[in-house]
Amino acid sequence: MPYAHITGWGMSVPETVLTNEDLSKMVETDDAWIRDHTGIRERHIARENQFPSTLGVEAAIKALAVANVRPTDVDLIICATSTPEYIFPATACLIQDQLGASKAGAFDLLAACSGFIFGVNMAAQAIRSGSIKTALVIGSETLSRFVDWKDRNTCILFGDGAGAFVLQASDLPGGVLSAVMHSDGSGGDSLSLPGGGSHHPATEATVREGKHYIQMDGAKVFRFATRAMGSAAKEALELAGMTTDDVQWIIPHQANYRIIETAARYLKMPLDKFIINVDRYGNTSTASIPIATVEAVEKGLLKPGDKIVLVGFGAGLTWGALAAEWTGPLPVEHKVHPERYRIWARLHSVFNRLVRFIEGLIWGRNS
Ligand code: UT7
Repeated sequence: MPYAHITGWGMSVPETVLTNEDLSKMVETDDAWIRDHTGIRERHIARENQFPSTLGVEAAIKALAVANVRPTDVDLIICATSTPEYIFPATACLIQDQLGASKAGAFDLLAACSGFIFGVNMAAQAIRSGSIKTALVIGSETLSRFVDWKDRNTCILFGDGAGAFVLQASDLPGGVLSAVMHSDGSGGDSLSLPGGGSHHPATEATVREGKHYIQMDGAKVFRFATRAMGSAAKEALELAGMTTDDVQWIIPHQANYRIIETAARYLKMPLDKFIINVDRYGNTSTASIPIATVEAVEKGLLKPGDKIVLVGFGAGLTWGALAAEWTGPLPVEHKVHPERYRIWARLHSVFNRLVRFIEGLIWGRNS
């Protein structure tokens, strides 16, 4: 049975930064309150022309370049997102097209902030079963579009961004070692986005009532999160036959510094074994774990052979954890320059549209 290795990683965040100071001019809050209660100092906010697919493609291109995998060699694209571009088509399909990943099956996965862990686990299972060889898992969000900027309970928390992993099959031992996934739908109303779906299709009334904004009972989610994070990490470690002593890094979902502190206490681990960057990005939902991972690699903290645990929680309610041995890129003979991935993606997209246009001309569908 092949092993599923994480061989590529990439991230992308919008350039626009919104600080706590900026927020204090929009709602009744201040920097000290936000930092004390969440650990967040600033977050990145998408421009009007930036979408989950735009950010996701950029993160994916970087991940493919690290792994030295051509888009045409990708078998499966999973995009975990809480803020899909449309109900359908899937954001993963938009990314598949923009990447020129012509062979890949693509779908979205909705498990809110736990989505990236669930997605990596699904991709790893598909690789281990032998049904695919290469997968791209992306977490991408523009949460700023669903935040009520007049609600200080939620607008201070969220940010936009994307992160991506490439997973590849290899006979070398290592890669994803274990994973656990949990859900409790009875807690669904404590964190939701009720408007625009088939229960509350968009109408003037749903917009007036603010149903298209994130609704959250912060205290309830906080209590759930502090229980869920520690227990899921412990479960994944036990499944992998490891203890906390074997682990170099825990990479948690970045929602609130205090939640991460509580998980560290539960696991009896020092906080400096946790990768934390919530101060600079806020909560980017499915993107938070891959973004934290990319930064850990780029700072030289996370190295091949390290044992890691990814752990997260989110709306649903959902929670989960995944233990892995960090691999790094598999050996290759010929390294492709990262810019070529962008050139290919652009050409492929233009070519596809041209073919569809010509098809329409020939069969008379363009009139
Ligand atoms: O991916 C999952 C996403 N969600 C989460 O992770 C949320 C988890 N929950 C939390 O992170 C925390 O519950 C919050 C950060 C949302 C809130 O922190 P808290 O320590 O639980 O504060 P609180 O809700 O108990 O509010 C304390 C006080 C309240 O005032 P009163 O009623 O005591 O007078 C709030 O109205 O702080 C007030 N408050 C604020 N004050 C200044 C709430 N938000 C703000 C704010 N600025 N932004």
